[in-house]
Amino acid sequence: MEASGRTTGSEVARIGIVTISDRVSRGEYADRGGPAVRDYLGEVLAVPWEPLVRVVPDEAPLIVAVLEDLVDRAGCCLVVTTGGTGPAPRDVTPEATVAVLDKELPGVGEAMRAVSRDQVPTAILSRQTAGVRGSALIVNLPGSPKAVRECLDAVFAAVPDCVDLVGGPRLETDPEKVVAYRPH
Ligand code: MTE
Repeated sequence: MEASGRTTGSEVARIGIVTISDRVSRGEYADRGGPAVRDYLGEVLAVPWEPLVRVVPDEAPLIVAVLEDLVDRAGCCLVVTTGGTGPAPRDVTPEATVAVLDKELPGVGEAMRAVSRDQVPTAILSRQTAGVRGSALIVNLPGSPKAVRECLDAVFAAVPDCVDLVGGPRLETDPEKVVAYRPH
């Protein structure tokens, strides 16, 4: 890691995977969203990468602290959250995410909802968003493992270019799984 926080080409890409759920954090439910994110990234990424896995309850200050830690101190180039995007009173993931972003990328959430509403009518209830903080892209996903896969499939072609543009490491993908689009 350079002093700027930017990773060099020889380094392993660090990726945060954050499960946001009161019940998972209390141990009442097994975490299914986080492992689904990890499995997906393991399938599509064709570079060495290291997952930094966290579980937090649906509390905005705790979510903010975890996102800041993963980006600012751990040097993640990508942070994927799962859960807490819906309309229930405890769902605060999008608000906590927007609070740490330098720039919101609303098109990422829009693309995920556009694909997801063909899968399930309640997909339009997800307020999931994305954006950049420093040299990292942060992406929200709903909590269900099925939604994790559907939503990542909808947007992942654009993820490597975004990480390039904000100064992160070059993320290569397995073209049989996801063809990364790099216009820049
Ligand atoms: N998106 C996809 N692709 N597939 C799904 O099954 N579930 C929806 C939605 N988005 C779903 C989806 C449902 S039922 C809800 S309530 C919202 O995501 C919010 O989920 P969350 O609160 O677990 O984040």
